[in-house]
Amino acid sequence: MKIETKAVHAGDRKRIPGQPTPATTPIVTASSFVHESTATLDRVMGNEEPGWSYSRYGSPTNAALEELLCELEGGAAALACASGMMAVQTAFIAALTDRPKRILAASALYGATTSMLVKIMEPLGVEVAFVDICDLPAVERKIAEWKPGCVILETLSNPLLRVPAIDRIAQPARAVGAAMIVDNTFATPLLVRPLELGANLVVHSLTKFLAGHGDVLGGAIIADAAHAETLRGVSRISGPVLGPFESYLTMRGIKTFVLRMERQCANARRVAQWLNANPAVGHVHFPEGPAHPDADIIARLLPPDLFGAIVTFELKNGGREEVFRFMDALRLVVCGTSLGDVHSLLLYPAMASHRELSPIQRQRQGISDGMVRLCCGIEAVDDIIADLRQALDKSLASAVAVGPLAERQPLQ
Ligand SMILES: Cc1ncc(COP(=O)(O)O)c(C=O)c1O
Repeated sequence: MKIETKAVHAGDRKRIPGQPTPATTPIVTASSFVHESTATLDRVMGNEEPGWSYSRYGSPTNAALEELLCELEGGAAALACASGMMAVQTAFIAALTDRPKRILAASALYGATTSMLVKIMEPLGVEVAFVDICDLPAVERKIAEWKPGCVILETLSNPLLRVPAIDRIAQPARAVGAAMIVDNTFATPLLVRPLELGANLVVHSLTKFLAGHGDVLGGAIIADAAHAETLRGVSRISGPVLGPFESYLTMRGIKTFVLRMERQCANARRVAQWLNANPAVGHVHFPEGPAHPDADIIARLLPPDLFGAIVTFELKNGGREEVFRFMDALRLVVCGTSLGDVHSLLLYPAMASHRELSPIQRQRQGISDGMVRLCCGIEAVDDIIADLRQALDKSLASAVAVGPLAERQPLQ
């Protein structure tokens, strides 16, 4: 079945003997489950019989969502987690359980993932190294020399939208026995399915495109067959699980995810074209066209007409003040710290997603103080563009009225 159909049907309609089957998955809130005999409970707890015993080990609503996620990503097992960061952390634990405690990470990652590596993993004794993940020879060299236990990267990097060659990186990683973790939050399984390209563990912030409505905080890991048991074992002990209400909302969101994502990608394409032609705008980062540094990889790995819903751009000669003025002038586009919702959302990386990095670290990653990241929603694209236009005009006009930054007097 195609992904559009799986998104609507997978995971639903589990038969309950002697009862009518709910057409959509209900919310089951129980934390423990009662069986007809202690012997049955014993078999369920020992995994000799399917069923539920205690919701940290698995529960009906989560299991339905996990089955759906497995179908979307082509995995053998999935785990719904309490947040995207919990999914990242659990994926590290699952990947490193029986491997050398060395993580090779893309130098451009979501800020909290970088922080987790340097502020949590390193102090715990895990060695961490960073590499420009789009420099394939450098990645191959580092993997062969350093023999990491795991490699982590993002399908579309945050916020610069670089596209690493997942398939080519998977080969040397496999050769040294390293597990490859791919954060597929920005691309979603509609654009890329990393397990098909050789990844071992896919992570998602469900908070974003999959749940899609700005009302869920959640994450997920989808594992290949080789990591399915380890993932289940780690989860049973550490209990990173999502609550049943959030699982239900996520399943409900995923039913329309393909429709939303297609519209959001189309909107982003139009917005990127408009921004490219706007003299008030500096560099526009969008993974389309022959000028993009990863054009060959994009042609190989992404669908011909879907490039994601995110456009990152710089205000010409802009810094923090100009960005704040621009953001305060937006009327339709929501200024927040997320992405993937039905409404367009604009984020200032230096203040939000990459706040925890030092200015030097941000500069090294190419994240300037004049850069903003827009995730297009499902609104009419003309309305999104009209809002961007009026906000750019307004922020430029007030910059002229106030005068160049250096000449301004501090407020008394
Ligand atoms: C690429 C990426 N991965 C992981 C996360 C973390 O997700 P969450 O906020 O659900 O913990 C985010 C959050 O913005 C993200 O953008």
